[in-house]
Amino acid sequence: MSGMSTTENSPESPQEPDSSRAAHRGRPLQTEFNDGRDYPRLGSFSFRRGTLTDNQENTWDENWPHLGRVLDENPVTADDQVIDLDDWFGRTGHDTIVEIGSGTGTSTAAMAPLETDHNIVAVEIYRPGLAKLLGSVVRGGITNVRMVKGDGVEVLQRMFAPCSLAGVRVYFPDPWPKARHHKRRIIQTGTLHLIASRLKPGGILHVATDHADYAEWIDELVNVEDDLEYLGWPDDPAVRDETVPVLTDRQIITKFEGKGLDKEHVIREYLWRRR
Ligand SMILES: C[S@@+](CC[C@H](N)C(=O)[O-])C[C@H]1O[C@@H](n2cnc3c(N)ncnc32)[C@H](O)[C@@H]1O
Repeated sequence: MSGMSTTENSPESPQEPDSSRAAHRGRPLQTEFNDGRDYPRLGSFSFRRGTLTDNQENTWDENWPHLGRVLDENPVTADDQVIDLDDWFGRTGHDTIVEIGSGTGTSTAAMAPLETDHNIVAVEIYRPGLAKLLGSVVRGGITNVRMVKGDGVEVLQRMFAPCSLAGVRVYFPDPWPKARHHKRRIIQTGTLHLIASRLKPGGILHVATDHADYAEWIDELVNVEDDLEYLGWPDDPAVRDETVPVLTDRQIITKFEGKGLDKEHVIREYLWRRR
């Protein structure tokens, strides 16, 4: 991916996909992946390993087993991975929001303490980013955040039941600016359909981007999914609070957003409600 994962910040940048069958290493090919439709599986990418500091490794070893999960990509064992959210969060009756591509979790950790009634699941493919969020969660005593390592699209499909989520967040997704890579963009017809299927009626999809071309791309897609009612972006936070039942103020300018703002990029935000 081209944001965090292809900048100098990411030691885990994806390489050009190998289109051969061998590259799938026994995993099912994309055509067997239903809801994501034409979204290319990240399983066809190889990733450079990111490194953690000793401190992060210790925090990881101690806390990941109860606060984190890894998507099982093995087609043989991966069948029944749907998360029992009440069990994982140790409480019942709380709605869940999934953030796809949480990066280093700066906004995740800033928002979660303001939405303690919600379970927050941050999904990221970049382990050092998850390690940073894990550190913030542990140090900050944040109790309503859990993490999944894996491709957010596959995680949504395999680990969350239909109609189970109150919200899905996609903040500053990798823009994949080259035309031949547009099919890798997270926001596209098939993934909007998948997201809609995982949201419960009234659930909210919130997307933000600073990338003008990606924004134009999203503009074309705002009404493509019948189950998602496009709400636009009311600039007034009070109006947003009245319109949607989840927190929409991202609280903090992340490094990626800051870089965009430095280049005088315009931040575009989008909200949809599951019908
Ligand atoms: C540009 S960064 C933005 C990070 C963060 N949301 C922020 O605003 O600072 C995009 C992030 O999405 C992650 N990412 C890209 N594709 C993903 C996918 N399919 N599933 C999960 N994470 C993904 C990348 O590793 C990267 O950390």
